[in-house]
Amino acid sequence: MRRRDDEMTPARHLRLGGTSVVIDTPAQGLPGIVYWGPDLGEVSEEALVGLVTASRPQRVSGGVDEPTRLTLVPLQSDGWQGTPGLVGSRAGSDFAPAFEVDELDGAEDGEGAGATLVVTADDAEVGLRLRIELRLDVHGLLHQTLRLTNTGDDVYDLHELAATFPLPHTAGEVLDTTGRHLRERTPQRHAVTVGRYDRESRRGRPGADATLVLAAGTPGFGFERGLVHAVHLAWSGNHRVSVERTVTGSTLTRAAELLGAGEVRLAPGESYDSPAAIGSWGDGLTELSGRYHRLLRSRPQHPASPRPVTLNTWEAVYFDHDLARLSALADAGARVGAERFVLDDGWFRGRRDDTSALGDWYVDDEVWPDGLTPIIEHVTGLGLQFGLWVEPEMVSPDSDLARAHPEWILRPGSRLPVPARQQQVLDLSNPAVTDYLLERLDALLTENDIAYLKWDHNRDLLEAGAGSPAHPAVHENVVALYALLDELRRRHPSVEIESCASGGARVDLGILDRTDRIWASDCIDPIERLTIQRYTNLLVPYELTGAHVSGPRSHSTGRRHDLSLRAGVALPGHFGIEWDISSLEPDVEAELTSWVAAHKRHRDLLHRGTAVFADLPDASMDLRGVVSADRSHALYTFTQVSASASYPPGPMTFPGLDDDRTYRVALAEPTAVLGGPGQSPLPWAVDGVVAPGRALRLGGVQAPVLFPESLVLLEVTAL
Ligand code: DGJ
Repeated sequence: MRRRDDEMTPARHLRLGGTSVVIDTPAQGLPGIVYWGPDLGEVSEEALVGLVTASRPQRVSGGVDEPTRLTLVPLQSDGWQGTPGLVGSRAGSDFAPAFEVDELDGAEDGEGAGATLVVTADDAEVGLRLRIELRLDVHGLLHQTLRLTNTGDDVYDLHELAATFPLPHTAGEVLDTTGRHLRERTPQRHAVTVGRYDRESRRGRPGADATLVLAAGTPGFGFERGLVHAVHLAWSGNHRVSVERTVTGSTLTRAAELLGAGEVRLAPGESYDSPAAIGSWGDGLTELSGRYHRLLRSRPQHPASPRPVTLNTWEAVYFDHDLARLSALADAGARVGAERFVLDDGWFRGRRDDTSALGDWYVDDEVWPDGLTPIIEHVTGLGLQFGLWVEPEMVSPDSDLARAHPEWILRPGSRLPVPARQQQVLDLSNPAVTDYLLERLDALLTENDIAYLKWDHNRDLLEAGAGSPAHPAVHENVVALYALLDELRRRHPSVEIESCASGGARVDLGILDRTDRIWASDCIDPIERLTIQRYTNLLVPYELTGAHVSGPRSHSTGRRHDLSLRAGVALPGHFGIEWDISSLEPDVEAELTSWVAAHKRHRDLLHRGTAVFADLPDASMDLRGVVSADRSHALYTFTQVSASASYPPGPMTFPGLDDDRTYRVALAEPTAVLGGPGQSPLPWAVDGVVAPGRALRLGGVQAPVLFPESLVLLEVTAL
């Protein structure tokens, strides 16, 4: 059966949220995207045909007879000689499918689901069916999901099924991030050349080195300008995202789950569903990331209440759990204005350090002889919510759980995988394991007044096998984790969950579908955090990004910083404190109190507005901010990251304002500009300065002279 709902139209035009996607739908072969980017407006049928014709290459000597098109799943059967969109076989045969389109279904729903095109295609001879869904949402994001069904009589081994997005030929520079524990999201850039550039995770979780988006754009693109496209894979396991340029003139980006050998073996009738690959574009990274932020903010489960200021016990006490000490910490938290108290690692049976006890999710009756009730009642009595740390997917070999159920541990065969942080990973694909975890978590949440779980995950999944004989099981583990979280949330809908993974090693839109914030990094040194938070913000808005004020000396870098820098850098995020504040000097406690108050004063703007970053030519200067949706009001921070070569450092420019309005820029409390020897006062320090929005964006205002590693807050208000 071959049915096309409009035989006459050789192309479809999806338009929504400022984005156009034009899809070539030829009579033969799979459809392909011929345009993805800024809205084209109404396009006549003639111009649509023209766009398709314009995308068709000539035949060339030495090439295939029918010139190659870049389809949604490029294959050799189309003459494609770059990376194929589908790789798999039936014990070596049926390796080269050639799909014929069965159905092409389009729907336009500007209000809800968006504009969609669903392609169903078959290759009866190799026994495969493909379903490709393209959905353009109201934010202008392009979602692609693929399903492969084995319609043959034998097992089909799937190796890879990728979503493919074309890039403009002007995309000459790639930006992605790498990283490690304590320094996630380190940006790196390079030129696009012929060949393929891959970023992969083989860690069973995205990893600290994962790039949240893989972006490619006009060389030199920044946050404020330069056409740039990017893709994100909404998946918490192994994956590969790539940018590829071929010798036949195609440039593309692709995203796929990275499957282990034998990881997905489809029995007759079985299907594999790819995670969603979500593409964005922008004139600058701010516009590109704004689409992801709006998608997250439009979800029904997006946190609607003000994000509670959090006091986390980890860097305050580590494993030293003691009711009196923690009660004093909570008292201090209440005094400075904290609203949530999170008891971190160390509360459960036998957990005195990080070498043992993961899996034994019962309250330790030596440390907590009366259970958690005394600390919970103390915390909630102060008016704070109580949160608890857990790491459910993990098990310590030295634990009652591992002794009772060694068969519950993921392993490649008879031996255990290489240890990491003295722990192993549970096989969540075994229902007995998830039943146990669900029972324990459910009991903890039912028996105690817990408003929040910090859900940690502190090792990579290496050699992660399940079953007998063992097969790679990362995919199954991720699917089972999602189901576990979904069920827990169904049972406890008011409990918020944080995704933490050795800091920021599990940040993706799959986990964020079922959690309420991410922990961006275990490093809370504010200088490191400037970069970590800037590049985390490419995908995740501030209200979902945990950002804490550390003690004066960073535990991860050893550097010392003023409270104003530590707090000012954390200010826009889901703000918190991770520092033993139980016996601060009164002036320090007062200063911290004023920062908590400043965050509360501004959090509505910070957590609903548009995050912006200035493209300043001097890397020692950092200006970033959040602008209200109506652009009447904004809060910026200017940070002198290191000593500038210029003295004074020069102007700071303000992105995101309305070019046609006039604004007042003023220094905001609790920061202040202190003069130094030989310096005159900042001319606008007292009354602020009034200027047109366009001039603030293009010319800017002379930045104050600050010590290196210090910051000021700036409030900008339309007149
Ligand atoms: C890693 C997390 O990132 C930290 O914040 C802390 O919760 C520790 N684990 C506890 O083991």
